[in-house]
Amino acid sequence: MVAEYAAAGEDRYQNIEEIERGDFAAYVRRLRDNAAGAHLPADYVPSSTFWLLRDGKTILGVSRLRHHLNDHLRVTGGHIGYDIRPSQRRRGYGTRILALTLEKALARGLKRVLVTCLADNVASARIIEKSGGLLQDEIFSEPMGGRLRRYWIDL
Ligand SMILES: CC(C)(COP(=O)(O)OP(=O)(O)OC[C@H]1O[C@@H](n2cnc3c(N)ncnc32)[C@H](O)[C@@H]1OP(=O)(O)O)[C@@H](O)C(=O)NCCC(=O)NCCS
Repeated sequence: MVAEYAAAGEDRYQNIEEIERGDFAAYVRRLRDNAAGAHLPADYVPSSTFWLLRDGKTILGVSRLRHHLNDHLRVTGGHIGYDIRPSQRRRGYGTRILALTLEKALARGLKRVLVTCLADNVASARIIEKSGGLLQDEIFSEPMGGRLRRYWIDL
């Protein structure tokens, strides 16, 4: 999956130290630490990472659930991020991974979640709207480099 992102020119897994040195176990340890709120970088909140698997082994996509918002996430990042690997897009998996992550959010006790996407990310906007997202507003986001749509989904 990492190689596929690189070949597609998407830099999602670049500059991740454990992946660059091929230490998958260390990467998973860090994800577990992130979920437990251990050794977090400053300004990070605890977040859980989920893989969408086919046949129990092929990773189709990844989602991240931030356990709560901070000032930065409230403006830009929201509670949930997700991505489907390039070769597996347009098969409904993006819609599925958000639905499954919403279940995880509900199980954590969240009542509603903020989900954001760039206004020109047609696929992501469609996924969020299909999943019950109500548009709060559209803002210009300096860190995202464009107009950002911010939606709330009631759980
Ligand atoms: C956005 C992303 C997760 C979509 O994943 P996906 O598996 O292709 O999504 P789905 O197959 O569930 O498609 C959802 C909807 O978007 C539409 N869609 C998907 N790709 C599209 C595209 N490139 N252009 C226009 N519409 C598109 C689908 O037709 C579908 O609409 P429908 O339900 O009306 O048929 C995927 O493109 C991705 O990982 N992109 C990079 C990371 C990213 O943008 N993440 C979201 C950050 S907010």
